[in-house]
Amino acid sequence: MPPLNQSITSRSWRILSLFAVAALLLCVAQCRQRHNHDKHDDEGEAEVKDVMEVQLTPAQLLGKKIFFDTNLSNPPGQSCATCHMPNNAFADPEGLPVSRGAVKTKFGHRNSPTIAYAAFSPHFHYDSVEEAYIGGLFWDGRANTLSEQALIPLMSHFEMNNTSEKTVVDYIKSAPYANLFKTVYGPKSFDDTHAAFLRIAEALEEYEETVEVSPFTSKFDYYMKGLVKLTPQEERGLKLFNDEKKGNCAACHPSTPDPITGAILFTDFTYDNLGVPANPKLIELDKDYKKDCGLGSVVKCLEDEGKFKVPTLRNIDRTAPYFHNGVYKTLEDVVRFYNSRDVDTLKFGPAEVKQNVNKDELGNLGLTDQEIKDIAAFMRTLSDGYNFKVEKD
Ligand code: HEC
Ligand code: HEC
Repeated sequence: MPPLNQSITSRSWRILSLFAVAALLLCVAQCRQRHNHDKHDDEGEAEVKDVMEVQLTPAQLLGKKIFFDTNLSNPPGQSCATCHMPNNAFADPEGLPVSRGAVKTKFGHRNSPTIAYAAFSPHFHYDSVEEAYIGGLFWDGRANTLSEQALIPLMSHFEMNNTSEKTVVDYIKSAPYANLFKTVYGPKSFDDTHAAFLRIAEALEEYEETVEVSPFTSKFDYYMKGLVKLTPQEERGLKLFNDEKKGNCAACHPSTPDPITGAILFTDFTYDNLGVPANPKLIELDKDYKKDCGLGSVVKCLEDEGKFKVPTLRNIDRTAPYFHNGVYKTLEDVVRFYNSRDVDTLKFGPAEVKQNVNKDELGNLGLTDQEIKDIAAFMRTLSDGYNFKVEKD
């Protein structure tokens, strides 16, 4: 957890305002629904999708057009959205442990995460109080900001596979939204290729920071506002999730507001080695497969080998398979792993990276099968776009 007194940078202000806009839109949607409810007593059921109809600024709209543009890969056919699809909570709809590149025979090394709520990640830094790395993007924190991150898939051989900055910029220069680019960044914005390339990433960041990507419209959000009730099973799951002596999940995936943004994000942005086993499918796909040391390889420190970023659990029901290598297919499987990693050692197999495995907070939780299902049921309340019935006062 970042220290409370961390200075609020202009970026943090942008994120704070993103959360404020989300809260406002949520309120508008609720007021509208209450109004509808008053008018037609039997029409309590209402869609909350209109929360997504957000007016984007020109820069955000430009970022959206780039994000969905399948002509930006080599060969054409792959956009950012191919691996980060809105209907799949901005994760990969193909459901493979690792995503296919623009060149269909090439695969990446890690599971595509959701990019929803990524805008809330603090910059990558070492916290000397916590004595731990915090924040950043990617499973190993190797990008500091969304714009720094966005340049990587554009050029990666196993993703969008462009060969030079110039190819990307030249394409955008002739794209249907080239004029929008000039409106946002100035009539001469294509003149300097490198500067224009950086603008592309900046526009992508603008889009990724909108409420369209991080809408806060899950059943859990409405529950927190007192608008809906959880089922008894979901309620039990939430208690087990928070209980230090049971699931202990909130120790790393807090279900309480982040001290800086006030948003509930289900990650404290720290890194841990959970002792996740290697995924044999990844070894099959890549003859040069090497074990994945995560954060340790980025910061070049043995004490951080095998550690990966605590991901948000928002929309987790839509982003299977799970963990950085996509080794588990269901939420129940994930909770079973937390529950009995150190008990059924044969079933789960050895940790891919044996050093630094967290043995204090997981591995032998003593949960019953019913409790495992309850925690999974709670996690399913975290998916955005929940349609709810306005409950009578
Ligand atoms: C071929 C699939 C693929 C494409 C195309 C792709 N990504 Fe990703 N994305 C991934 C994978 C896999 C990761 C995780 C990689 C890692 O951690 O090493 C990722 C990670 C990210 C993250 C970090 C999320 C977090 O919470 O750490 C962001 C943001 C992101 N991608 C945005 C984009 C943008 C913007 C584009 C287009 C310019 C894009 N991606 C194109 C597969 C893809
Ligand atoms: C010690 C910190 C810690 C605790 C405690 C913890 N998690 Fe995690 N969680 C992580 C980390 C780190 C990852 C990513 C690990 C990886 O991929 O190697 C993760 C990943 C996950 C994922 C997969 C996310 C994805 O996008 O693939 C789920 C689901 C999950 N945790 C649920 C839970 C539940 C449920 C509990 C409680 C039973 C729990 N976690 C307890 C740190 C923790």
